[in-house]
Amino acid sequence: MKNIVILISGRGSNMQAIVNANIPNARIAAVLSNNEQAAGLAWAAERGIATESINHKAFDSRLAFDRAMMDKIDAYQPDLVVLAGFMRILTPEFCTHYEGRLINIHPSILPSFTGLHTHERALEAGCRVAGCTIHFVTAELDCGPIISQGIVPILDGDSADDIAARVLTVEHQLFPQAVEDFVAGRLQIHGNRVLNEAFSAEGQSLLA
Ligand code: GAR
Repeated sequence: MKNIVILISGRGSNMQAIVNANIPNARIAAVLSNNEQAAGLAWAAERGIATESINHKAFDSRLAFDRAMMDKIDAYQPDLVVLAGFMRILTPEFCTHYEGRLINIHPSILPSFTGLHTHERALEAGCRVAGCTIHFVTAELDCGPIISQGIVPILDGDSADDIAARVLTVEHQLFPQAVEDFVAGRLQIHGNRVLNEAFSAEGQSLLA
């Protein structure tokens, strides 16, 4: 059984998708947040999952917060730490500590549109597609070996919210699959590439 700790900052719909997937050999050990008001915390607690929050505003440095977070996370002995809408920039120390067992979902087709407001920026750039990326986390923001990507069309008249909703449905498919592939030992990092036979098959069907 692999222990999974999920970090959220808000709604937590991706965390819910991962929990609801009932991934074989995976135990959601805890859902943690930097925001005690995060709606996802209550959802997880109602299901008997351990939840904790640490307010980042109570710390005078990014590193002090990250260290407090690492203490909490490590108490659950995680095999995998999942950033599911965790809206904090992480220090190199945090990223190094969890190297190879820390994954993130980002709402763009990386390496395009790292950072915030991805769908607004895709609209402004005149893109015809938008998407999401699941990747291993390295110290460089929104970089790191890519596990999987999903793509949706941008339609005439779309707002950023329309795109976000369309992308979110793909996020909810891809993220539990990525966690399942990790837990099953199907993800192999080779430099900046992740080899995953399962995604080759999944990817074909998503793009068909
Ligand atoms: C998701 O769309 C995720 O891709 C994005 O936040 C949303 C969280 O939604 N993540 C980032 O922007 C990370 N930089 P959720 O709380 O409902 O899962």
